[in-house]
Amino acid sequence: MLKLGVGAFGLAFIIAPAAVAQEGSEQGQQLYQQHCALCHKDSGAGDPPTFPALNADDQLGDLVRIVRSIKAGRRRMPPFPSLTAEEVSSLANYIRDAWANDFGGVATEDVTAVLRGLGDADPMASVWDGVFTEAQATRGQAVYDGACALCHGRRLNGAPDDPDLRSTPPLARARFLRVWEGRSLATLFEYTRATMPEDNPNSLTVQENVDVIAYMLSVGGMPAGADELQPDPRSLSRVAVGPRP
Ligand code: HEC
Ligand code: HEC
Repeated sequence: MLKLGVGAFGLAFIIAPAAVAQEGSEQGQQLYQQHCALCHKDSGAGDPPTFPALNADDQLGDLVRIVRSIKAGRRRMPPFPSLTAEEVSSLANYIRDAWANDFGGVATEDVTAVLRGLGDADPMASVWDGVFTEAQATRGQAVYDGACALCHGRRLNGAPDDPDLRSTPPLARARFLRVWEGRSLATLFEYTRATMPEDNPNSLTVQENVDVIAYMLSVGGMPAGADELQPDPRSLSRVAVGPRP
């Protein structure tokens, strides 16, 4: 409703409140698909015990807990510091009301109040800002060749070396960027750490995991810089995946 602004107040008369609520939940659903469904799935069923279900989670009555989990992360759930108060509230509304959930709506002001208590986040960087070192990417290549290439291919294009194996998602270049655009390296880190290599998840150290990510970025043409990417979800959450600027 606010979005219509004063200049459009004539229009506001013909948009019923139900239509406005509908628009809000569409935004929530879109954000959910972009940022959350990778782990919690479209159905909200997740992949327990790795990724908990949200379609039967009693905790969703607790707004403070939801907002903190989204914005600051929670154990192996990545933080999402770049989401605005409005976006966090759309997401909270969506997950509290989707599937068979019925936890009631939340007001953006209430979300803003919780966010204020969490303090200011550092500014966001991009994968194009030189966020890993060349030496790190070289280490990552060794890990990749040993643990990932079998399924994702030597060229990271999703075509396995063995033609009998099924194809997998690409891990670099345009198709990867299109799928991952707007997500952060913390999401990539936590997802990969918990699920890959698919035949032996959780087998890499956090250092190996972040080194592989550095290698993926370098193959995608992103420049190396002076500092290594750290295996720390908080700092990784401030690096956004996006197209070449
Ligand atoms: C990389 C995987 C991943 C992504 C992406 C992800 N989550 Fe989670 N989420 C988790 C894990 C793991 C947990 C369990 C955390 C724990 O151990 O308490 C969790 C827990 C939660 C919880 C329950 C917290 C509680 O109160 O127990 C909520 C709510 C939640 N996630 C919402 C979201 C939303 C909304 C998004 C998108 C903005 C999202 N998650 C994205 C992995 C993920
Ligand atoms: C045994 C085969 C196999 C191995 C080994 C493997 N993967 Fe995967 N990977 C897959 C499959 C299959 C998917 C698709 C999973 C799905 O969609 O549920 C996938 C998905 C991914 C994704 C998500 C991509 C996207 O856009 O959705 C990432 C990231 C990833 N793998 C990284 C890695 C890394 C890094 C390694 C090595 C440490 C690795 N994988 C090793 C089979 C494998």
